[in-house]
Amino acid sequence: MGIDRRTFLAASAAAAGARGAYSAPQLAIDGGKPVRDKPLRADYWGPEYYDDKERRELLEVLETGRPFRWYGSGSGRPEKVATFEREFAARMQTKYALAVTSGTAALQTALAALGIGPGDEVILPAWTWHSCFNTIVHAGALPVFAEIDESFNIDPDDIESKITPQTKLIMAVHLQGNPCDMDRVLAVARRHGIKVLEDCAQSVGASYKGRPLGSMGDIAIYSLQLNKTITAGEGGAVVTSDPLLFERAARFHDLGNFHAVHEKVVGKRQGDWFIGTNFRMSEFTGGVLLAQLRKLDTIVAAVRANARQVYEGIQGLEGLRLRLRPDPDGELGSAVFLGFRSKALRDRYIEAMKAEGVPAAPPGGSVILPVQPHIINKVTVHPNWPSFTSERGRAIRYGPECCPRTLDILGRFAGVAMDPKFTARDIADVVAAIRKVYPRIVRAEA
Ligand SMILES: Cc1ncc(COP(=O)(O)O)c(C=O)c1O
Repeated sequence: MGIDRRTFLAASAAAAGARGAYSAPQLAIDGGKPVRDKPLRADYWGPEYYDDKERRELLEVLETGRPFRWYGSGSGRPEKVATFEREFAARMQTKYALAVTSGTAALQTALAALGIGPGDEVILPAWTWHSCFNTIVHAGALPVFAEIDESFNIDPDDIESKITPQTKLIMAVHLQGNPCDMDRVLAVARRHGIKVLEDCAQSVGASYKGRPLGSMGDIAIYSLQLNKTITAGEGGAVVTSDPLLFERAARFHDLGNFHAVHEKVVGKRQGDWFIGTNFRMSEFTGGVLLAQLRKLDTIVAAVRANARQVYEGIQGLEGLRLRLRPDPDGELGSAVFLGFRSKALRDRYIEAMKAEGVPAAPPGGSVILPVQPHIINKVTVHPNWPSFTSERGRAIRYGPECCPRTLDILGRFAGVAMDPKFTARDIADVVAAIRKVYPRIVRAEA
């Protein structure tokens, strides 16, 4: 049977692809030449974009001599924090935004706004940051863990089995740039009449089906600490479109007081003083965050574009198993995570990628909370803490037995961190290293 030149070339290219493993260069871990001599390193995104804009905002606050958001003796009113709040609410497509001192402060404020307290249960993912658990306990409520799925976010199917008549809230935490499956989370919450708090700390600027994260739940929080999309070193924000929740949040963050600036935003006050705390943001922080907020879309577009190029570059790779992404277009692209059948193979991948100069790491930025000794032992600031003195609070058991699936999943994935300032060369190296290493590790498990 005859074969024309074009068919022959196509067939030999396919054969070369299939044979790729045998003709591919030796892995650096086995003594081959690494993809990069100088290891690739993702940096802190926000400071990579610091320039005259942040400098000007800071200088303006200095020159007016009014670093406090409510008043001061200097002339002029910088109103950085108030402007930041207005622009942040608009960006997140919510009616109201409140600036606070950290993401943890934002969580505590949001829980107070919702009136969460002793006797209430809050469902949170077994894999998230300490702040989620700690603020539930500080509110006097009881944290109840749900498993994650391969998105590394709370598994909507597992939420349902954790609901009791005392459940008041679900914390939908959008981890490492990846939106939760909000349709399913909201459906469970609605079915049971439970409120949803979106924790967007690790996904500032990401979206789900075209909607900004934070605009879908009853209330949402963001962290603006160094590791986040935009930053002033520290900082946080609460958003909601419910005027009463906003008023309660604003009151809580300033000792129970409700200021004219915020009253103007909601139209008229509905509540009255209650016992709050002080999480007010300074005008210096507000100024830097205002400049950063105006760059948010630029940063998000850049990091997304970089991650997308990596996804495209590794498309069709043998055995490819990506992190589950409920909305790939909405994902921030903080890291490109690949999965393995066992932890041993995942660890081998990490070692091999490090040797190539393109380090991969296990999912990070969170902890598997139920296995932390102080959580297993329910260590609080006072032995009679209300979270754990009720019958249910005494009975609840934390530990590895409440999150076997979470432990398994996190042991089998590793990711290469992305950076908005990666060059085309950097991206090409990431793709080359994954293409070189991943199929061989995957093949080893076959
Ligand atoms: C999911 C999550 N929630 C809340 C926070 C708390 O933010 P902050 O460090 O600004 O207090 C973090 C911080 O990393 C986080 O990752």
